[in-house]
Amino acid sequence: MLYIGVDLGTSATKLLLMDESGKIMNIVSKEYPVAYPHPGWAEQDPIDWWDAVRAGIPELVQGFDAGEVRGIGCAGQMHGLVALDKDDQVLRPAILWNDGRSEKQVRYLNYTIGREKLSSWTANIAFAGFTAPKILWMRDQEPELFSRIDKIMLPKDYVNYRLTGKFTTDFSDASGMLLLDVEHRRWSPEMLKICGITESQLPKLHESFEAIGTLRPDVARELGLGEDVVVAAGAGDNAAAAVGTGAVGDGRCNISLGTSGTIFITSGAFRLDQENALHSFDHADGGYHLMGCILSAASCNRWWSEEVVGTKDYPSLQEGIDLADASTSLTYFLPYLMGERSPHNDPAARGAFVGMRMDTPRHEMTRAVLEGVSFAFRDCLDIARKEGIEVSSSTVCGGGAKSRLWLEMLATILNVTLELPQTEQGPGLGGAMLAAVACGAYPTVADCAGSIVRIKDRVQPRAELVEGYSRRYEVWRGLYPALKDSFSKMGE
Ligand code: XUL
Repeated sequence: MLYIGVDLGTSATKLLLMDESGKIMNIVSKEYPVAYPHPGWAEQDPIDWWDAVRAGIPELVQGFDAGEVRGIGCAGQMHGLVALDKDDQVLRPAILWNDGRSEKQVRYLNYTIGREKLSSWTANIAFAGFTAPKILWMRDQEPELFSRIDKIMLPKDYVNYRLTGKFTTDFSDASGMLLLDVEHRRWSPEMLKICGITESQLPKLHESFEAIGTLRPDVARELGLGEDVVVAAGAGDNAAAAVGTGAVGDGRCNISLGTSGTIFITSGAFRLDQENALHSFDHADGGYHLMGCILSAASCNRWWSEEVVGTKDYPSLQEGIDLADASTSLTYFLPYLMGERSPHNDPAARGAFVGMRMDTPRHEMTRAVLEGVSFAFRDCLDIARKEGIEVSSSTVCGGGAKSRLWLEMLATILNVTLELPQTEQGPGLGGAMLAAVACGAYPTVADCAGSIVRIKDRVQPRAELVEGYSRRYEVWRGLYPALKDSFSKMGE
């Protein structure tokens, strides 16, 4: 039996083919663009996602017995607003998770409606990336389009809708809409009223590992798959990555070093942090999690390497960096290239290099980029630690995890042992695993993770450097408050 995992990312959709034992048989990637029509905005055409999936699946199964494919599970970039009219036409480009346009609507939600109310209804406060503020933005700025909305869905739910004709979502992804009562796993009537929408415009809620249906006959023909192929409800990419790295159950942690950076802490019971600085969401295993999300992680390194320096040769750009030299480095970097989510909740925040001198070499700036992103993770982890949550080890996945130097730096800055699973394809593998559970190959997500996920390597913090990096972190931590007002004036 074979299962397809779809990782619907921001720069590409990655598809993987997995057998029942968890072995990855094939991987295919299809890239597409992100549009930045205004500073701080980020949009994508949902049709591009669908085109990537329908071109990618036939390529993925080529050379295999397509009749063996039993299920498909999708892990999607979270929070994106996809709006369809009554004829199922996309009304406008999807507004993505890292889009900061809804600052005004976020202020309205957090300060006019009030953070306490939002937290009691949804377990979260408003952040610009979340879906509800974007719905309010559409209502304010595009009233004609807003009045034509028939269905509101998240990116992976659009793909599932095209695959099956079923209008559904799952609890992990729905948590990031700010429309869900996360604790009780149902839509919040209060939030729907505030956004001027009704439940009939929202998808039906499922657990991530539930089957939502089978392929539409015309789609099955086009993809070269059987009409009985089951589609799982799937999950937000972070919850799926947690499944794919074995972070299920209680007290486990996964760090994703992808376009965004997330630190994902599982919890069997519902919980939230006092300031709502971390997101309190449902998990794809039926439980809950807390998550900190930094909007630009590996994307900072890509921006620095490809856009600024002009090279894709990442290893050579890191030549000359010695982890032990931190105390001689004068340069610091703030990674807020798309504003910041956790913990600052500030779409106006910007990137910054600080501290260079005439003799600053390029590799010191590269180091500052890797370090600034790692410090941003530390901001999130410290909130969890203040809540009494102990994190001494974490799995890690995402493109940034390819750099051993970065992993050693991150392990040292967080003082956490990082565990590398056998496969780096966290979200895609998680999607395929959810499909396997939906097809009955495993009784639970935890059983599936227990049989499939293996750790191949561990990166320990460099004990002798932990204190030195903590001192650097304290300097770095002072930079955002010092620049905050200037950042907000830059946007005026
Ligand atoms: C999580 C978040 C990002 C996206 C990336 O809250 O916004 O990690 O899911 O695809």
